[in-house]
Amino acid sequence: MNVALIVAMDSERGIGRNNDLMWHLPEDMKFFTNSTRGHIVVMGRKNYDSIPEKYRPLPGRENVILTRNKSFSAENCKVFHDLQSILDHYSAETERTLFIIGGGEIYRLALEAGIVDEMYITYINKNYGADTFFPEFDLNQWQVQTIKQQPIDEHHEASFSVLHYTS
Ligand SMILES: NC(=O)c1ccc[n+]([C@@H]2O[C@H](COP(=O)([O-])OP(=O)(O)OC[C@H]3O[C@@H](n4cnc5c(N)ncnc54)[C@H](OP(=O)(O)O)[C@@H]3O)[C@@H](O)[C@H]2O)c1
Repeated sequence: MNVALIVAMDSERGIGRNNDLMWHLPEDMKFFTNSTRGHIVVMGRKNYDSIPEKYRPLPGRENVILTRNKSFSAENCKVFHDLQSILDHYSAETERTLFIIGGGEIYRLALEAGIVDEMYITYINKNYGADTFFPEFDLNQWQVQTIKQQPIDEHHEASFSVLHYTS
């Protein structure tokens, strides 16, 4: 089983504010959709709540939600109450990648558990004043390659780069 993590962060490692995203960057959204399509996406309950109802569950992907609330349910989503149960449930997967898609608590949980094989990180060159952040991680443990660069243009108020980290 391959575990990937995908995140977009601003110049201060910010990923969200008031349980919402802070930017509209269509090329990054397209990158997220293309990367995760056909795979399994693992998200925290707050991240799930933040997705507008008409866009959830995220189409074309198996949606997995992590919550401590034993009575939580969401239509067409799988619900788990701890990370290990997710890993156990999907341990035999060979075709699909398990994508950790946030938010902040779930990124931290996955990185601290040491289960992440690769990361796709979008670095946005602007400060959006976030209240939720992506954790620091040890750069020495990863090899890194820049796989996409987007300049400011009429659809993008900020430039960004996408880096691919492999362990
Ligand atoms: N920029 C990006 O790439 C990106 C990606 C995703 C999300 N975001 C942003 O991130 C923010 C949300 O992040 P967040 O950190 O507030 O919340 P989150 O990580 O999405 O969800 C937190 C919730 O996950 C559940 N949880 C956490 N640890 C758990 C554990 N060990 N076992 C079981 N359940 C656990 C709990 O749900 P219960 O309270 O139900 O128990 C907890 O309240 C939003 O602003 C969103 O827009 C940004």
